Amino acid sequence: MSSNDYDPAVEGAETDFARKMSYSDYLQLDALLGAQHPISDAHDEMLFIIQHQTSELWMRLAIHELRAARHAIAREEVSPAMKMLARVSRIFEQLNNAWDVLRTMTPSEYTHFRSRLGQSSGLQSYQYRLIEYLLGNRNGAMLKPHAHDPEVTALLKAELATPSLYDEVLRLADRKGLTMPAAVLSRDVHETHHFDESVMQAWRRVYEAPEANWMLYELAEKLVDFEDYFRRWRFNHVTTVERVIGFKRGTGGTGGVSYLKRMLEVELFPELWRVRTVL
Ligand code: HEM
Repeated sequence: MSSNDYDPAVEGAETDFARKMSYSDYLQLDALLGAQHPISDAHDEMLFIIQHQTSELWMRLAIHELRAARHAIAREEVSPAMKMLARVSRIFEQLNNAWDVLRTMTPSEYTHFRSRLGQSSGLQSYQYRLIEYLLGNRNGAMLKPHAHDPEVTALLKAELATPSLYDEVLRLADRKGLTMPAAVLSRDVHETHHFDESVMQAWRRVYEAPEANWMLYELAEKLVDFEDYFRRWRFNHVTTVERVIGFKRGTGGTGGVSYLKRMLEVELFPELWRVRTVL
């Protein structure tokens, strides 16, 4: 060690973790960094694994925030909910930027290990499905790939039985005087909510007089902001997929790009998008 080298112990930094919780202990890095097991010799498989694992970690945080935001909205604690929704948008922004790393993998490189993936696919990501369900895109048929896992099935079914984030927003808006249609407020929450003219007219009142309805106006714009980022995620995904596998079928068995393009049409908060046309 040269005399210029920094020695953390001199300034009093702790260096003995034999009996104290260290950084690795707290973050369980042994488990986290011990979970990357490529099953081929392909150099790029590590990128592929880490890209998916980091996405799953960010999704985990998104679920944590979305659930808490929904709970806060139901309790009319709108300011903290707004902060959480802003964070979820930033998470999706992060996920959107992450595609740039994956795009450095060419089709030739991916073919070195694609066949080793078998039938596994992001289509079976239960956290992704949970996010879709939480937000209100509730296709019960997407439970099927999880039938072999009772715990995950129970988790997703419980989510389907719970009002979505948007349901809670519409209920709040109704309590705050917007008068949402009874059929929408008492709808079967297991299903996806579809565009409703009266809901759009209610939002129209908010957008035509933001000052008089500031809280709902701000909340609505937070939702639009988030859906905007989510749409960009779907778009980045399908573009990356086309770039890497062209129009091949997906490992999960769908038409691949054709399936993902169909998903671009999903509208989570349909009235908030349509209201713009009538202003
Ligand atoms: C080279 C990289 C990738 C390729 C070629 C790819 C390909 C595909 C394809 C073809 C599908 C349609 C389902 C199927 O038949 O398999 C799909 C779905 C999906 N992928 Fe990817 N994917 C890639 C990267 C990722 C990454 C990094 C994530 C992040 C977690 C991800 C998450 C998902 C999810 C959540 C779905 C289901 C989407 C839905 O149901 O709307 N994919 N992927």
